[in-house]
Amino acid sequence: MSVKVFLNEDEIPRQWYNLAPDLPTPPQPPLSPADGSVVPPEGWAKIFPMNLVEQEYSQERWIDIPEEVLQLLYRWRPSPLKRATFLEKALDTPAKIYYKDESVSPPGSHKPNTAVAQAWYNKQFGTKVLTTETGAGQWGSALGFATSLVGLECKVYMVRISFDQKPFRKIMMQTWGANCVASPSNETASGRSFLEKFPDTPGSLGMAISEAIEAAVADDKGTTKYSIGSCLNHVLLHQTIIGLEAKKQLQKVGIDKPDVVIGCAGGGSNFAGLAFPFVYDKINGADIEIIPVEPASCPTMTRGIFAYDFGDTAGTTPLAPMHTLGHSFVPPPIHAGGLRYHGMAPLVSQAAVEGLLSPRNIHQLECYGSAVQWARTEGMIPAPETSHAVAAVIQEAKRAKEEGKEKVILFNMSGHGLMDLSGYQHFFDDKLRDFAYPQEDIDKAEAELSNHPKPSTEKTGKW
Ligand SMILES: Cc1ncc(COP(=O)(O)O)c(C=O)c1O
Repeated sequence: MSVKVFLNEDEIPRQWYNLAPDLPTPPQPPLSPADGSVVPPEGWAKIFPMNLVEQEYSQERWIDIPEEVLQLLYRWRPSPLKRATFLEKALDTPAKIYYKDESVSPPGSHKPNTAVAQAWYNKQFGTKVLTTETGAGQWGSALGFATSLVGLECKVYMVRISFDQKPFRKIMMQTWGANCVASPSNETASGRSFLEKFPDTPGSLGMAISEAIEAAVADDKGTTKYSIGSCLNHVLLHQTIIGLEAKKQLQKVGIDKPDVVIGCAGGGSNFAGLAFPFVYDKINGADIEIIPVEPASCPTMTRGIFAYDFGDTAGTTPLAPMHTLGHSFVPPPIHAGGLRYHGMAPLVSQAAVEGLLSPRNIHQLECYGSAVQWARTEGMIPAPETSHAVAAVIQEAKRAKEEGKEKVILFNMSGHGLMDLSGYQHFFDDKLRDFAYPQEDIDKAEAELSNHPKPSTEKTGKW
């Protein structure tokens, strides 16, 4: 029995999959906060190059991956599909557990799939500098890696608490030639205003996004652009190579379709990357349960509000229709930095509204416990974000045992945790606590969102 399924380089998918034209209820457009009008593609021109904006608005189902982007991806792709036979045995489950191992990329996560594509399209467009935010440092290091491959400068605003607690990601960025500063910083007007209001703030992704966008917009020459690690349609598009490879690999071992597909969800990109090609199958009649998993302390999809909201804290982005905890969300003290974000990708949110997804939230102690069980059976140490997917996989494998069903479970091992060991240390030292997101904060968000335009919650009711 194979525990690893490989694709040759010439078997790599040559097109990305865009879910937008297939969603039964069409995605709703971004709106201008000034007057509620629909933001046209040109409305993004100051922050993104137009070749990526075109992808953002595309209604084409399949989009060609340029040969030069494939050349960049070959450094680590196709990634292996693996079977977790040792965990299956430990759980005594009839389920077959397969996972895409995205930890094999040089920065150690799925993030470079879009980082190299964004860096390449920016280079074609004439961009010289890319700015971005990063939470725990996975995205910043992925973009630093990508910009070094194509020859762009890179400026990363890293959430203060991670900047202080996770020096190794910063050193990775430095090694790839990126310039990383703690956010809020004194380098931007929004950073200075956050610092004035909250001098001791640990920072947040929302604040760091405000700074990175401001730094891009401030360049009069237009050769500094902003690059985003999740949420937007073009980012999810680039990640679909994960699910498309997985489909080919499952077919190689005689599996037509998985029964359950699982990914952790921060902004939604690794989840969508694995899941969207299977959402397409589900729309076309396949019986698949598709589960995005989020922290119980940041329950964007499971307890948040589907509303038009800003992507950042300062309110500088267009309003996007998404599940949100409100843009002034203060992140809870949990270790999965990449999952501490108030919003969710609009395409993931719309698929959830339609009923195509079954979102779930899990507390961090169960996630760490599951990740440790994984490490002691399968070997590798998952990222704290990924541990949420691992916990859901274990829940589903136990359910398959109770039901006596030989289900195929597929999940995304979105990254390794070798740069995040302090979280494991806190877990072993019994310093971690579960944290239920307070209802009054959700009520506060509801009030904050009450004067934003309301997206339609119409659905076909088929799922
Ligand atoms: C390893 C890993 N997995 C998952 C995520 C969550 O992000 P997203 O939902 O965009 O995939 C992150 C974010 O930093 C991450 O680093």
